[in-house]
Amino acid sequence: MADRTVIKVGAALKKSVLYGSLLNVGNLSDPTLAAFVASQNRIVVAESEMKMRSLQPTQGTFSFTDADAIAAFAQTNGIALRFHTLVWHGGLPTWAASAIAADWQGVMDSHIAGVSGRYAVQSMDVANEVIADDGSGWRTDSPWYQAAGSIDYVRRAFAKARLAAPAGTKLMLCDYGCEAGATALAKSTKLMELASTLKSDGTIDGLSLQCHINLLAAGASFNQTNFAAFLAQAKSMGLEVNLTEIDCANQNPNYDEATFKQVSADVLSLIVQTWASAGVGQECLTWCIKQDLSWLHDTFPTRTQWPGCFDASYRRNPLFYRLRGALN
Ligand code: G3I
Repeated sequence: MADRTVIKVGAALKKSVLYGSLLNVGNLSDPTLAAFVASQNRIVVAESEMKMRSLQPTQGTFSFTDADAIAAFAQTNGIALRFHTLVWHGGLPTWAASAIAADWQGVMDSHIAGVSGRYAVQSMDVANEVIADDGSGWRTDSPWYQAAGSIDYVRRAFAKARLAAPAGTKLMLCDYGCEAGATALAKSTKLMELASTLKSDGTIDGLSLQCHINLLAAGASFNQTNFAAFLAQAKSMGLEVNLTEIDCANQNPNYDEATFKQVSADVLSLIVQTWASAGVGQECLTWCIKQDLSWLHDTFPTRTQWPGCFDASYRRNPLFYRLRGALN
């Protein structure tokens, strides 16, 4: 068994930074894994248990069992909790598409009212992935956008969440592809445009940057100057920015495991270092507790995936040391 001495990624963290990861209800049935998460994390987010598919499996009927288990784990272990996510084109129950098309305001209002006040959370992803991948406009392959006919559905979501969420909950706009890659500048610019509107509405507190990168698309093309400028602009607007789903997909045909782990850790730690230096947020989460437990294995089944700070045997990957360096 690997050295289990508890050395947190963020052991010597400035008090302000909460390092953590996703967690799913299946993880809780493994006592070793659950104890490991409790020892490493200062914040957790439910991988899918707080999405509409889980919370409202049939229209008008809410199911909180799995989400309550995640929230109870966090509370028992003195770990902060973040909520992901209220309004998204993904993670929808089977009844939602037609119901949204028929009455998107009613579906949105009742879901937000039904779930937003249940958990004391550090932050809440009110809307997720609403920007077109190339940053040219809004995501249009969303039942919410198609029903509303404009991005105003996001404004409504934030306004309703502000009324329903516990006081002090940070309301966040979440997206990916804004940190690195060929379209990062365009997409982050569009994200900021919407954030500015929501700031004018008085409803938004910040941005959740997912930070799912892949070295093929990113081409390791992380533009630190652009990213630092984006973070500075957010800070000047009074917006918090957090990194909430950090991982790197292996889509480059040429890397072996050791090389991939080093190269991906180089890029991710530079992103995290740039974020930490900006002093613009406090939540830094990976989307992987340990290497064998990742959505990447199902999503990219033809290529071995090596994400995360720890390998399948809880041994520290290069990313552990690089993130600890970046965060301290
Ligand atoms: O719970 C059902 C189970 O009852 C059923 O037997 C099984 C087979 O159909 O599906 C299970 O639901 C799965 C769910 O994860 C819970 O495990 C869904 O099919 C599956 O699509 C879902 O995938 C999740 C995905 O979001 C969609 O919600 C991934 O685990 C999760 O890692 C991924 O996370 C997203 C973030 O929310 C947003 N950012 C991107 C990130 C990666 O795609």
